[in-house]
Amino acid sequence: MNSKSWTENRLTARLGLQYPIIQGPLGGLSSQRLTAAVSNYGGLGSFGAHGLKPEAVRKVIREIKSLTSKPFAMNLWVSMEDEGALASTEETFQQSLAPLAKHIESVGGANASYRPYEPIRFEDQVQVLLEEGISTFSFIYGIPSKQILDEFRRRGVALIGTATTVDEAIALEHAGVDAIAASGFEAGGHRGSFLQPSEDSLTGTMALVPQVVDAVKLPVIAAGGIGDARGVVAAFALGADGVQMGTVFLACEESGANPLHRHALLSGQAKQTALTRGFTGRLARGIKNRLLNEFNQKDTKILPYPLQRSLVRHLTIPAEKAGRPELLPLWAGQSANLARCTDVRALLDTLAKEISEIGGAVQSWSAHRPIRERPVPTA
Ligand SMILES: Cc1cc2nc3c(=O)[nH]c(=O)nc-3n(C[C@H](O)[C@H](O)[C@H](O)COP(=O)(O)O)c2cc1C
Repeated sequence: MNSKSWTENRLTARLGLQYPIIQGPLGGLSSQRLTAAVSNYGGLGSFGAHGLKPEAVRKVIREIKSLTSKPFAMNLWVSMEDEGALASTEETFQQSLAPLAKHIESVGGANASYRPYEPIRFEDQVQVLLEEGISTFSFIYGIPSKQILDEFRRRGVALIGTATTVDEAIALEHAGVDAIAASGFEAGGHRGSFLQPSEDSLTGTMALVPQVVDAVKLPVIAAGGIGDARGVVAAFALGADGVQMGTVFLACEESGANPLHRHALLSGQAKQTALTRGFTGRLARGIKNRLLNEFNQKDTKILPYPLQRSLVRHLTIPAEKAGRPELLPLWAGQSANLARCTDVRALLDTLAKEISEIGGAVQSWSAHRPIRERPVPTA
């Protein structure tokens, strides 16, 4: 088939891309190199900057710009902390530290001590994005205020909001975003739900994408469980105009993932993933290992986001040094075992070639699909 038919659509036109393939933001495992490599190829590289202070966000944008002149996305979280984070005490810290303490000791980590929470403000991060000038702003865990969205729109910045349910997609369309990332529960990383609790927003990509496509007029980007060309073609057949892949990019050598983590993704060991609040305090998906299983035990006390994330870092850093993957948060989606390619060029070359080979079904249905009316049930 003519490769034009899947690469040229309203999403690639709006975002200025050659391929409708988005490397999803990878939070703290994002890297400037990965973002730039994907953008240089003609996809959209994204950088997840939610954990960074405003001046660090500025530095990252400048570094990415020094590596690519192509469009890339900066990603932030609209909701920066959970209820209880500001009121958290040393006592709750010690309770959540207790089950980790023996592991921290076993990998030679330093004693973790309590430090009061220092919030980073979403609005301050946004200000940096506006000042530095970016082509695309993607966000998760909510919808920024109209005033903020208008500031981006005035500068021509493309806006991508993330939905985990149909209602969230409709709310994002009302807010005037340019595209919606519809994230099925197979996805690696956090469930960015904002209208209902994450635990009640667990629709899979196969069911979510066509329902979102039916509910909104905007281009939809399918995310979650897409690991190779077959998944991309399936997403297009469901009506998506693009795909957002995270886990398979995490396995690329350009990503910010530790070699132990990349090995777990590439070695076929990632047979089972699960959701947990243990990594950060918010529901997220990772490979099932000893750490994840212990977090998910009924009695384990988890701090509110983002305090749990800071706590877990006391273990992650020495466990990486000690080469102990069973004690690491091994972020991954359900497609983890499909990860094969070890660098961005190899991954995207294979994807582009195979998507073109698979052929006819690729062209997005969104422009042509018949609208089916709901039948009225007969008594
Ligand atoms: C380690 C990791 C961190 C992530 N961080 C973010 C983030 O900060 N913001 C965001 O919108 N999505 C984030 N995601 C979601 C991805 O961008 C992407 O939507 C998701 O990984 C797609 O599903 P897949 O992992 O099955 O490919 C993250 C995913 C992973 C694996």
